[in-house]
Order: sequence, then C-alpha cells, then structure tokens
Amino acid sequence: MSESIVRMQGIDKHFPGVHALKKCDFELQAGEVHALVGENGAGKSTIMKILTGVFKKDEGTIYYKGKEVDITNTKEAQKLGISIIHQELNLMPDLTVAENIFIGREMIKSGIFCDNNKLNKATEVLLSSMKVKIAPTTRVDTLTVAQQQMVEIAKALSFDSEVLIMDEPTAALTESEIDELFIIIKELRAKGVGIVYISHRMNELKRICDRVTVMRDGEYISTNNMDDITIDEIIKMMVGREIFVEVVELNKKKEHEVVLEVKSLNRGRHVKDVNFHLRRGEILGFAGLMGAGRTEVARCIFGADKLESGQIILNGKEVKIKSPKEAVKKGIGYLSEDRKRFGLVLGLDVESNVAMSSMSNFINKFGFLKPNRISKNSEKYVESLSIKTPSGTQLVKNLSGGNQQKVVMGKWLTKNCDILIFDEPTRGIDVGAKSEIYKLLNNLADQGKSIIMISSELEEIIRMSHRVMVMCEGRITGELERHEATQENIMTCATNRSA
Ligand SMILES: Nc1ncnc2c1ncn2[C@@H]1O[C@H](COP(=O)(O)OP(=O)(O)OP(=O)(O)O)[C@@H](O)[C@H]1O
Ligand SMILES: [Mg+2]
Repeated sequence: MSESIVRMQGIDKHFPGVHALKKCDFELQAGEVHALVGENGAGKSTIMKILTGVFKKDEGTIYYKGKEVDITNTKEAQKLGISIIHQELNLMPDLTVAENIFIGREMIKSGIFCDNNKLNKATEVLLSSMKVKIAPTTRVDTLTVAQQQMVEIAKALSFDSEVLIMDEPTAALTESEIDELFIIIKELRAKGVGIVYISHRMNELKRICDRVTVMRDGEYISTNNMDDITIDEIIKMMVGREIFVEVVELNKKKEHEVVLEVKSLNRGRHVKDVNFHLRRGEILGFAGLMGAGRTEVARCIFGADKLESGQIILNGKEVKIKSPKEAVKKGIGYLSEDRKRFGLVLGLDVESNVAMSSMSNFINKFGFLKPNRISKNSEKYVESLSIKTPSGTQLVKNLSGGNQQKVVMGKWLTKNCDILIFDEPTRGIDVGAKSEIYKLLNNLADQGKSIIMISSELEEIIRMSHRVMVMCEGRITGELERHEATQENIMTCATNRSA
C-alpha cells in the first residue's frame, strides 16, 4: 500500500454537554477501503464531518497528501478531492434525481440556462454504470429510501474524488444492491481512491475492507489489518467489555387469535393482491428485495396511502383506515423506514419526541401538561434503549444517527399500540444495541402485542420471526413457517424463482 493520503492527529471536538472527540487520530491510504467502526455515538460521523468541513475542530491537525490543511467548509473539501455520503440523506425532495446530483454545478447552455438534457444524460450514464434503474427526471420525493441512498452514492461518485467517505451506505440497501455497491467500491479502490467505510453491519467488513479503525466514546482505540483481526475482537474493542453480544433467540409463539387480516390489497404496481394474517403475540417477518412492496403494504395498512381495493380486518371486523391518525386510534403503530420525514421532529428535544404521539397520557384532569411525567417516561426509554444523550432536553438533531433511531422506537413504545409495524427496526443500530432491540421485540410479543417486522437483513428475519412473508414485485411470493425460513428459501421466493 502507498503513503497516507489523509492523516488526522489529535482531533478534539466539544458540543454543548458532549465531548464528542478526544484527541482522536485517523489515517487513510490511497487505494484502501478503511472501515471506521464504533457504537452509536462513538464519534464516527463527527470526525468525518470535520474532515469534510461540516464541523470545525477545536484542536488537532489534518494532513492531506502530506501537507497540513485547514478545511473550513464542504466546498473546500470537495476541491481537495474529498467527498462524503452522509448517513442522513440530504437530497432536495422536490428536485429531480439529475438536479440533485448536479446541484450547484448545473451545466450552462448559452450562458444563462442550465442544460437539462446534458444533466439528464450525464446522470443516466452515472446511474447505469451503477446498474441502478431510476430515470434521471424522477422527483426525489417519489423514491424509496434505498433509491435515495443510491442517488446519494451516485452524487458522491460524480465528483471524481480521491477520498470517498461512506457513512453507512448500505443501511437501506438489500443484499443485491450491496453486491453492486461492493463492485463499485472495488473499482474505485483499484483506481487508487481512498475509501472510508462506516457500517454497523459487521459481516460486511471482512468482505470489503482492508483495514479497520475502532473508536469508542470519542476516543481512538486501534487500527488493524482486516486479515489480522476477528470480528469478535473488533466488537470487543468497540464496547470495551469482554462478553457482550448476547444472542437473543425468539420466544416460542403461542397460538393466539388472528388480530389482523388483509385480503386482496391492491395499490399501484407495488401492492398486488396481497393477502396475509397476523396473530396476537406473533412476530411476522416481511422479507424481499428493494422495491418488493413491503413498505407500501405497511403504508396502506397504516392509512398513509389509499387502497385501490381490498379489505383490512381488525379483530374480526372490517375497518376503513383513512389516515395514520385513525390507524393509531385503532391501535396500529408504524415505525417508518424514513424516520427523518415521518418519525421525528428534529428541532424538538428527546422528551417531546418520545411523548409526541401520546400527549393525552401526559395531560392532567385540568388539561395541563405534566412535564414530570414526560421526563420520567423519556428517562425510562433513554435507559432501556441506552439512548446516548446528555439529557432528555437535548435536541434530537444533535444526537448521532443510531440514537435518533432509538428515539423513534421510544415514541412508538410510549404509544402502547396493539399492532406495531417496524420498518427496518435495527437500521443504523450498533451490534450491542441490536440485541436490546431483539429482546424488546420478544417482550412485546410476550405481552400479547402483534408485530410486523420489515427487514432487509435476512439474518434478522430468520432469527426474529415466527413466520415469514416474502414479497417480490408487489406480490406475496412465499409464506414460510419458522422451520422453513432458511436463507435459500427466502431468496428463492424473493426473486420469484421456482426452486
Ligand atoms: N451537532 C451536534 N450537537 C451536539 N452534539 C452532537 C452533534 N453532533 C453529534 N453530537 C454528539 O457527538 C457524539 C458523537 O456523535 P456521532 O454522530 O459522531 O456518532 P456516530 O459514531 O456517528 O454514531 P452512529 O453510529 O449512531 O451514527 C454523540 O454523543 C452525539 O450526540
Ligand atoms: Mg453516525
């Protein structure tokens, strides 16, 4: 391997109430894929945001190709050849895919107008090189989270950078898209690009990374060659404790009554004649590839999208759910995969977000809010979900990605719904906290709650579902009992191949 392209030394960063980086080091070489790992809130995003000029460091030095540099804004970073795919998607919802990719760099035609044709053409070339089938003229707000993530990746690639930082690029992707992304990453590496790869999906690290740096609580712990270290050793360094990842097994299901039945549900090309039922105390997994229609089914049940036809039967009675508000009233909760848009008010604090959809629980008989109860309730979830925050009054936008996610979870648990739909419940959650969430799902099922769990992680689906529905192109293509739900069987149904 060659000399370092980036060297960060003694980087220190404080936020109000948080010492986010403590004299942290990081070094990247040209032509390597370098994993950066650590628990939620360890400081991974923060140190990379300092490298790309999003945040200003308090102390420390950054060398780029051997020269000391002072990167004070993102444009400067881009000029040097450093780009980043942020963990939180940053696209403009009402612009097209092409406009988003080339925003601020629109190609000029005859000096005044930007040339949309050129823009679209360039986008098409870029996307097809990634084997992504999205029209450049599509408005971003009509894309799924996974598609948006692909657009973010395309945007970062369009800069032709020498250093590319990927902050959880695969969080929203399914296996086949991840394979495509890995091919792209390997091509970039072969061209000499230095890649920083942040991920909580530990099994990816061995597949794609050359070295790994571990951070813990804002501190630099170590850097190792991937070949010299096991995943267990990495995890141990991340958490600083010996034994920790507890393998949570699914509790036995009791044969309770059916609480939800869905018959011949139809909506557009993503929901076609969908039928299934859900029992009390059951965890029903929903597997499928990107665009299979799982989220769309959830949105129909939750009243976020209108049905074209079909029936939803709740506790034996047909219901018409016209809005999410009605769904919640009927005891159905939906933890959306798009948390930024549907899950959180980023400008409010942790306590308010957790209490938000259950305000009536926190009002006394005179109609006044009970702030104490609100704080107590949030404390309960900060503790049980180990949300890393200086206090309940911290604004949610200041939490790390994984911790924001846990706040959404707290919000729906406060609501105490009988049926909970979790769309990618562990996306962006670190390995340790994952087992906490699995325990929680188990407990909820034991208490008689019914859970639909949409997940792109096969391992999670297999481990945590009593029964698995598989979707492909809007249709249910398989229903697998627990003992039948193997990786092969699920993939066969998900790609709709006959075995
Ligand atoms: N803008 C901010 N204001 C205040 N505190 C912040 C801000 N950004 C990050 N922090 C805090 O800095 C710490 C490190 O956060 P960071 O986002 O770097 O974590 P991370 O390692 O990327 O975690 P995750 O895996 O959850 O994405 C956290 O305690 C977080 O709450
Ligand atoms: Mg982060």
